Amino acid sequence: MNILIMGAKGQLGREMTDCFARGYSALGTPDILKESNVLCLADIDEVDVGDLDALRLFLENQEIDVIFNCAAYTNVDGCETNTETAFRANALGARNLAIVAREKGAKLVHVSTDYVFAGDGDRPYAEWDLPAPISAYGKSKLLGEQYIREQTERYFIVRTSWLYGKYGKNFVKTILRVAKERGACRVVADQRGNPTNAADLAHHLLKLATTEEYGVYHGTGNGECSWFDFAARIVSLAGIDATVSPCTTAEYPTPTKRPAYSALDHLALRATVGDEFRHWEDALAAFFAENGTELD
Ligand SMILES: NC(=O)c1ccc[n+]([C@@H]2O[C@H](COP(=O)([O-])OP(=O)(O)OC[C@H]3O[C@@H](n4cnc5c(N)ncnc54)[C@H](OP(=O)(O)O)[C@@H]3O)[C@@H](O)[C@H]2O)c1
Repeated sequence: MNILIMGAKGQLGREMTDCFARGYSALGTPDILKESNVLCLADIDEVDVGDLDALRLFLENQEIDVIFNCAAYTNVDGCETNTETAFRANALGARNLAIVAREKGAKLVHVSTDYVFAGDGDRPYAEWDLPAPISAYGKSKLLGEQYIREQTERYFIVRTSWLYGKYGKNFVKTILRVAKERGACRVVADQRGNPTNAADLAHHLLKLATTEEYGVYHGTGNGECSWFDFAARIVSLAGIDATVSPCTTAEYPTPTKRPAYSALDHLALRATVGDEFRHWEDALAAFFAENGTELD
């Protein structure tokens, strides 16, 4: 089977690449890893997904059966000002990969976000809830989802949230660093969601890819918490002697408004390939057990 991982140098892309290199995921051996796969890895240094002609040229003469799209412009505040970059990577990039997937007869496994929702509810969003993004990042990702639906039938759109892993920048690494350096951190307690271990997400993307169960999925760590709860758990599991105190969004404003409540329910996974996501606290403990707490 011929596999393309786009965004292969990013946090999730590297996690996915590791699974193919090792032959197993954190939670088992999805069927796709039992096959003899030819991997094509690409990131912005190789090709800009926002450029359809360049993408077609890059993949010319390449057979592709499955495309994993881990590429995105993920700087939420940056998306507000660099709207063209956001549109190119998150909307056009998704569209272009869907076009190429259709042309090559490949499946597209695309990663989206909880930020497609407004975050003004009080129960986890189901796949059938209507998106209403409040940020340029969320809008660009939602348009990417819509473009994919228009261009190909063989897609899996998997929305995730609060992603962390051993590669790249993420909240877990930031809290470890700040707690160690300053011995204290203040974290917002009025935004709730689902922390997601990138290894758990990779497992489900791999599992979906060999099925015909096309559609929209939610894939996040199970159980919800606030950023404050998440930070407190990071510090306690890492055994750092630091104080974590709660604050409100109003006390800690960011340039971009974030959804206040964006937990996602996994209705589609439960009804199809199964929901094997660990509870976020277990997945976090496993992350530290595997990678330690000295992360760069
Ligand atoms: N991180 C989170 O908390 C989170 C939450 C919800 C959903 N997601 C979604 O999960 C997916 C993976 O996120 P991640 O955390 O792994 O992101 P990431 O670490 O930022 O990786 C994204 C990769 O895509 C590359 N890229 C950006 N623009 C590109 C373009 N035009 N053409 C080709 N490659 C491009 C980036 O290169 P540069 O680094 O050089 O820009 C980077 O290597 C994304 O779809 C994201 O929207 C992430």
